[in-house]
Amino acid sequence: MRWMVTGALGMLGTDLVKRLTADGHEVTAVDLAELDITDPKAVGRITDIDVLVNCAAFTAVDAAEEREGFAFTLNAVGPQLLARAASACGARMVQISTDYVFAGNGTQPYAEDEVIAPLSAYGRTKAAGEWAVRAEADNHLIVRTAWLYGAGGACFPKTMARLAAERDELQVVADQVGQPTWTVDLVDLIVRLVEANAPSGTYHGTSSGQVSWHGFTQEIVRTLGKDPEMVLPTDSTAFVRPAPRPAYSVLSHAALGEIGITPIGDWAERWRVAAPEVLA
Ligand SMILES: NC(=O)c1ccc[n+]([C@@H]2O[C@H](COP(=O)([O-])OP(=O)(O)OC[C@H]3O[C@@H](n4cnc5c(N)ncnc54)[C@H](OP(=O)(O)O)[C@@H]3O)[C@@H](O)[C@H]2O)c1
Repeated sequence: MRWMVTGALGMLGTDLVKRLTADGHEVTAVDLAELDITDPKAVGRITDIDVLVNCAAFTAVDAAEEREGFAFTLNAVGPQLLARAASACGARMVQISTDYVFAGNGTQPYAEDEVIAPLSAYGRTKAAGEWAVRAEADNHLIVRTAWLYGAGGACFPKTMARLAAERDELQVVADQVGQPTWTVDLVDLIVRLVEANAPSGTYHGTSSGQVSWHGFTQEIVRTLGKDPEMVLPTDSTAFVRPAPRPAYSVLSHAALGEIGITPIGDWAERWRVAAPEVLA
């Protein structure tokens, strides 16, 4: 199968290209220098591929509040152009989206078809990207992920591991819950969906279970051989940031179950497998 990966140098793109290459696929891996996804002429030249996975995005959630127009170009117009190009050459379009399309005020896992209500500029632009892909490419997969971490980028566990080495105690919010998700697991899910020729639609690519940032940090600290009690709970009012964060970012995996695809495993079990690679 001939794959194209955009944003190939990003945290997710790096692990996707590594996996596809190891599996012996033909992979065209491009990042901004080779293919600016917002350039209609360059994107229009895409040809001879079977699957296009867009890992490029404007992911600076707080900066997006000040630069929503720029973020929209990258997170919505770019995916629109890519989806159109994929469609024109008969390829499947895979768009990576986010839990930030939801308001995060729910109390039970968000279904794939739940009404979206993004709180932030980033969430709005990613939601627009979803709609653009649906409109341009009948043959698509939209895979929403959340709380992503991986060896190939800056991420929460790396930051917490550094801070745990510098400080005697850490204060971490306990009033936001979600599903920490390893890039390697998300990559595996994307590959399984494509290889199973999953029906076009929206799927949730997050770990199972749920935990707060505080609970996740306790696990990170435990992995480092430190006392989890050094992580103290606080709440979001102590860490006010430009972009509002969804309080409840737990996504349902029902759509995967309906097509016989096993969701990613429990976040804590997956973290224990991921930690040596991510914190190396
Ligand atoms: N990280 C998370 O916690 C998280 C959570 C939920 C969903 N997601 C989604 O998951 C996907 C992957 O995220 P990630 O964390 O791997 O992102 P990332 O590390 O920020 O990677 C994005 C890549 O896209 C590149 N890029 C920027 N502008 C581009 C352009 N115009 N054309 C082509 N490439 C461009 C970036 O290059 P530069 O570095 O040079 O800008 C970077 O290499 C994104 O769709 C994101 O929205 C991420």
